[in-house]
Amino acid sequence: MKEQTLAPEERKNYLLTAHKHCQRLSTLVEDLFELAKLDASESGPHTEPFSISDLMQDVIQKFQLTAEKKGIRITVDLEDNLPFVNADIGLIERVFENLIENALQHTPEGGTITLGLATDGSDVAIQVRDTGKGISENDLPHIFDRFYQVDKSRRFQAGHSGLGLAITKRILEIHGKDITVKSTEEQGTILTFKLPAVW
Ligand SMILES: Nc1ncnc2c1ncn2[C@@H]1O[C@H](COP(=O)(O)OP(=O)(O)O)[C@@H](O)[C@H]1O
Ligand SMILES: [Mg+2]
Repeated sequence: MKEQTLAPEERKNYLLTAHKHCQRLSTLVEDLFELAKLDASESGPHTEPFSISDLMQDVIQKFQLTAEKKGIRITVDLEDNLPFVNADIGLIERVFENLIENALQHTPEGGTITLGLATDGSDVAIQVRDTGKGISENDLPHIFDRFYQVDKSRRFQAGHSGLGLAITKRILEIHGKDITVKSTEEQGTILTFKLPAVW
C-alpha cells in the first residue's frame, strides 16, 4: 500500500524482512510435514543393510565447507572392520544432518566435532561429540521436545524450527531405538544412538 512513498532503502528492508519470514515458515512447514509423516507412518522404516561409515563420510562432505568457514574441525573416530547396519538410509542421513547441524551451530570457532562409530554387542553405536557451549542440566531433559529451544531468541531465525531433535528421536523410535545425550556446560555435548548390526 505504501509502495509509492517508500524510499529504496526502506523498500529493501521490508523485502528482506518478508524474505526472512518466508524462509522461517518454509523450514517450519517442511519440518512439521516430516514429523507428521513419521507419526503417521504405518509401514515402518524401509530398512536395508548399508555401510554406516560411508553414509557418515558423505554427510561430512556436505558440511565441510560450512565447518571450514566457521573454523570448526570435523574428525572421525572409526573402529576397524565395522559391520553394516540394518536401517532406513534416508532417515539415518537426516539424523546425521540434524546432529551435525546442531553441533556446528553451538560450537565456537576453533572447536571440534567428532563422529564416532564402534560395535556395541549386536549394535553399532554412533556418537556425535562437540566441544561447544553445552546444555544446562535444566534444559537437558527437554531438548528432544517438539519446539524446545534453549535460546528463545532463535525462534525467529530461519532454518531453526526447534523440531530437529524431535524428528531425530522419532526416526530412531520407529527403528526401535533410542537416543541419549550427555552434556557439560562450556565443555561440550555428546549424542549417542545405536543401530542393529548385520553380521
Ligand atoms: N550440540 C548442541 N550443543 C548445544 N545445544 C544444543 C545442541 N544440540 C541441540 N541443542 C539445543 O537443543 C535445542 C533443540 O535442538 P533442535 O531440536 O535441533 O532445534 P533447533 O536446532 O531448530 O533449535 C537447540 O535449540 C539447542 O538449544
Ligand atoms: Mg537443530
